[in-house]
Amino acid sequence: MKKTLPFIAIIFLAAGVALSTLNKCTSPAGRTIVDDLRVEYMKNPVGTDASQPRFSWKMESGERGVSQAAYTIIVSTDNAFKKVVWNSGEVLSDQSVAIAYKGVALMPATRYFWKVEVKDQSSKKIASTEKAFFETGLMDSGWSNAQWIKPLQRDTICTVPMFRTTCTLNKKIRSARIYTSSLGIYDVFINGKRVGRYDENGNIVYDEFKPGWTDYTRTVSYSTYDVKDFLTKGNNVLAAYVAAGWWQGGISHGKYGNPDLGFIAKLVVNYTDGTSETVASDPKTWKCNSDGAIQKGDIYNGEVYDARKESAWTSPGFDDSGWQTCGINTDFKGKIIAFAGPTVQIRKNLQRSPVKITRYEGITNEGSDFGMINVKDTLTQPATISLAKGQTLVYDMGQNMTGWVKFKVKGKMGTELTLRFAEMLNDEGKKSRGDDGPGGSLYRSNLRSAKAMLQYKLKGAAEGEEYHPSTTFFGFRYCDLTATDSITIESLTGEVVGTASEETGSFSTDNPSINQLFSNIIWGQRSNFLSIPTDCPQRDERLGWTGDIEIFGRTASYNADLAAFFQKWMGDMRDSQRGDGAFPSVAPHCWVGYGQAAWAEAGIIVPWTTYLMYDNKNILEENYPAMEKYMSFLANQSDENYHYNGAGTDYGDWVSYVHTDNRYISVCYYAYSALLMEKISLALSAGKDDEYAQKAASYRALNDSIKQEFQSRYTAEDGMLNQDTQTAYLLALKLNLFSTGDIRQKAIDHLRQLIVDNGNKLNTGFVGTGVMMPTLSDAGLIDIAYNLLLQRDNPSWLYSVDQGATTVWERWNSYTKEDGFNRDGMNSFNHYAYGVVGEWLYRYVAGINPDESRPGFKHILLNPNPDFRKTLPEGQKQITQADASYDSYYGKIHSAWKIENNGSVKYNIALPANTTATLTLPLPVEQSEVFESGIAAKDAKGVFSVKRENGKEKIELGSGEYSFEVK
Ligand code: BGC
Repeated sequence: MKKTLPFIAIIFLAAGVALSTLNKCTSPAGRTIVDDLRVEYMKNPVGTDASQPRFSWKMESGERGVSQAAYTIIVSTDNAFKKVVWNSGEVLSDQSVAIAYKGVALMPATRYFWKVEVKDQSSKKIASTEKAFFETGLMDSGWSNAQWIKPLQRDTICTVPMFRTTCTLNKKIRSARIYTSSLGIYDVFINGKRVGRYDENGNIVYDEFKPGWTDYTRTVSYSTYDVKDFLTKGNNVLAAYVAAGWWQGGISHGKYGNPDLGFIAKLVVNYTDGTSETVASDPKTWKCNSDGAIQKGDIYNGEVYDARKESAWTSPGFDDSGWQTCGINTDFKGKIIAFAGPTVQIRKNLQRSPVKITRYEGITNEGSDFGMINVKDTLTQPATISLAKGQTLVYDMGQNMTGWVKFKVKGKMGTELTLRFAEMLNDEGKKSRGDDGPGGSLYRSNLRSAKAMLQYKLKGAAEGEEYHPSTTFFGFRYCDLTATDSITIESLTGEVVGTASEETGSFSTDNPSINQLFSNIIWGQRSNFLSIPTDCPQRDERLGWTGDIEIFGRTASYNADLAAFFQKWMGDMRDSQRGDGAFPSVAPHCWVGYGQAAWAEAGIIVPWTTYLMYDNKNILEENYPAMEKYMSFLANQSDENYHYNGAGTDYGDWVSYVHTDNRYISVCYYAYSALLMEKISLALSAGKDDEYAQKAASYRALNDSIKQEFQSRYTAEDGMLNQDTQTAYLLALKLNLFSTGDIRQKAIDHLRQLIVDNGNKLNTGFVGTGVMMPTLSDAGLIDIAYNLLLQRDNPSWLYSVDQGATTVWERWNSYTKEDGFNRDGMNSFNHYAYGVVGEWLYRYVAGINPDESRPGFKHILLNPNPDFRKTLPEGQKQITQADASYDSYYGKIHSAWKIENNGSVKYNIALPANTTATLTLPLPVEQSEVFESGIAAKDAKGVFSVKRENGKEKIELGSGEYSFEVK
C-alpha cells in the first residue's frame, strides 16, 4: 500500500537527519511482493467511464537487482475469477505502470476484479494478493429518465435549496448504487445518513464540494456511491442540498449566465431475485425547500447557518407537506462525465488545534490610526472558554491553511456567532504600514471583496452544538469570533480541506530554515489544490490560473501523486480552449483572457510533466490535438516585423523586482513550446517515419527558426542580450538560444555577475524564478544556486521564512519588517508559484530525476549535488546533509547525503524493484575513490558498471538499497 508520508514528522526530525533512516521496503527481506494495484492511477476506483482502463502495480523487495521479466493480468466479473473477461496471457515485458485493458468491451455499472502475476528476473512467479477491483460508471448507458431538478421559485442568490423524495423498496437488496451530480455543489443523504465511501480500513470517507469544478459550459462530473448499506427494505428517503459552489456567486464571474442551481440523481437497486429498480430525480416526485439550516453558502463570502432550522428532512417520517414541487433545470447544456481522480476531502491527519487564543476587548492607544487591541488574556491550550458580549477571541492555528473551523459551543437559543478569517494579523495598527485595523486584530484587506466569514445562530442545545460549514472554504491562519450574547466555546479546531491526493515526497536538511521552507511549499500545495490547481485560497480569486501551475507543476508532482488530477484538469483546459487554439489564463475558464505567454503554455508543459513523472502517455495522446491547435495559434501571432512573436504579453515576468520585456518572454516561451512539442511527438512516435516522427522534425525546425529570429531581435553584435536581466539570461540559457558555445559561456559568466552584483540576490518574478535554479545548476552555477537558496535578505525564499511564513507568499515582499504589508490589493500569503524551488531541492540537491527516455522513474537519473561551496556569502552556513524521498509508481526512491568532518561524503540510496538507475557522484578530487558498503563500488552486488567522466563517477545500478562513500 502506498502510504501517506509523515511530512510533519520529517520536518521536525530534520535537524537530526540520520543517514541510517533509510526507508526500508515493506516486504520482508529477500521476498518480493506485488502490491499497490491501481486502475487509472487510483486504488479500486468505483465509477470509471474509461473504456480501456490502465493497470499499474508495484514490486517490492528487500533484494538488490530485482526486476520484472513478464506479467499476466486477469480481469473477471467475479472475485473467484471464473468469469474472465481478459487474460493478457504472459507478456514478456518489464512494464508495470499504465497498461491498458484489452479484453472484451466493458459493461456499464459493473464491478470487475483483477489480479496480476509477475515473473521476476530469475523466472520466479509472484502473484498479487490484494483484493483489487474497479467498477465502471454509467458509461454510455445513460441517466434513464433522471432530470436536472431545481427549486421552482428562485430565491435570493446563495440560498441553499434542499431536495427530497421517498421511495419504497420491497425486496431484499443485493446491490445498490447512486449516481449523482449537481449544478452548484451538493451533498447527498439516504435515510438520514450522509452518503460516503468506506475505505480499506472500514472507515467512512466523505467527499466535499462535489461534483468539483469543471468547465460547466461543457462538462460536469458525476459521482458513484455504493449505497447498499444505506438503504432498507421498505420506506427510504433520498435527499440532497445544493449550494452555489463554482456555478453561481462571485467565483463564477458570471460565466454561466444567471443560472439556477440543479441536482440530478439515479439510484439503481438490484434485488437478490435478479430484478432491479431505478429511482431518478424527477420534478414530479421530488420536493424542494430553501429554508433550511444552511441559509446561505458562497465560496467567497462564507456561510450563514441557523441551527434553529435544523430538522430531520433527510430522514423518513419527516413531514414535507409544506415543501414545494420542483422545476426542471435547463441551464446546463454539456456532458455529464464520471469523476476521475482524487476527491476533495477533510484531510483528517492534518487537523490543527489553535496554538494561541487571544481575548481582547476594545482598543488601546486610541490616538493613533487604529491603536492596538486591548488584550484581556491569552491561552495556549485548547480549553473551554467563556466569551462575553463585546469581547473578541483571536485564534491562531499556527499554520496558514485552507479549510474551515469546526467548533462546539453552548449558549442561549438565537445567540449569533460571527467568525471572520484572515492569514495575517495587523502589526502596529498604522496606516503607514498597510494595516487595516488595530495591531493584533485580523488583517483582511488582502481578501478584497471576499467576505470570508461564518455566521452561526445557536439553537440553544443544553449539551452544546457542534458545527462546521460545508458550502465554503477559507484560506486562513487566524480567525476571530464574537457573539451577541455570552457563550461557552467547548472546542474549536482547524480542518484542512483540499484534494486528497497522496503525498509522495519528503525533503530535509540540517538547516531548519530550509526545512521550514519545504514545509511552506507543501502547505502551499495542500492549500491550493482544491478540485483544481488554484492561485490562492483566500481572496476573491481562487481560480485555476494556468501560469501558476505551469511553474509549480513539477514540484507539485514530487509532493503528491497528481497523475489522475492533472489528467482531469487537462480536460478543463481542453474544454476552455478558445476556438483559435489559445489556452485560457484560468482553467476552467470563467474570467480574463486567453493565450498569454507562460500561462497558456501550461497546456503543453503540464501534460509533459505528467508523462515524465508517471509514464502517463495517454495524457500526451489525449491532448496532442489541443496542443497542436495551440501551436497554430502561436503561428498566427506573426506581424509585419516578426514571424515568431509567441503568445500574449499580458503578464510577463509577473511580480518581479526588475522588469524584463514581456514580448521577450513570449518569444522564449514559443521556443519552449516548440522544443516540448518535438519531445512529445517523439514520445508518441512508434517508428522513424510515422506521422509523429515527421511532426517532431517540423517542431525541431520551428525551434531553430525561432532561435534565429530571437538572435537577430534580442542579441547585440557580441551575441549578448539586449535585455540585461536575470530572467532574460535564465530563459535564453535554459532554452539554448545563444548562437555559439563561447557566447553561451560568456552569458553564463555574465549571469553569475548579475546575481553577485545584486548582493547574491535574485530579482525575478514568476517566470524567471520558475526556471532559475535548475538553469543555474545546469550551467555550472550550482554554487550560485546554493547562495540564493540560503539568502535571507529581501528578496529571497528565506526572507519570508524569517518573517514567520508558514506558506509561500505571492510576492517576495508581501510583508516586510521595514514597510509592513504590501499595499497592492494582490497580496496573498498562500501562493505556490515561488515554491518552484522545491523542484530543485528534489532534482538537484537530492538528485532524484526521471529519465526522459524511460519516464515514470523506470530508469532513474540520480544526481545528488552536496553543498560543496568553497566560499560562502557572509552569514551563510554550508548544508552538510540532505535526505529526500519520492514515492514513484515503482515504489519509494530515497536519496540522502552527508558531508563528514573528514571531507568524505556518504550517500545512502534506495531504488524500488523493477527500476534501474544511473547514479552520478561528484568527486571532490581526482584521486577520490568510491566505495559501497565498504568495498570498491565496482565490486558491489547490484552495480552493473562504474565509469569516471568529467570529474564524476557514473554508476549503473539495479534496484535495492546502497551505501556509497566517496573518500
Ligand atoms: C493571480 C496570479 C496570476 C496572475 C496573473 C493574479 O491575480 O493570483 O497568481 O497568475 O493574477 O495575472
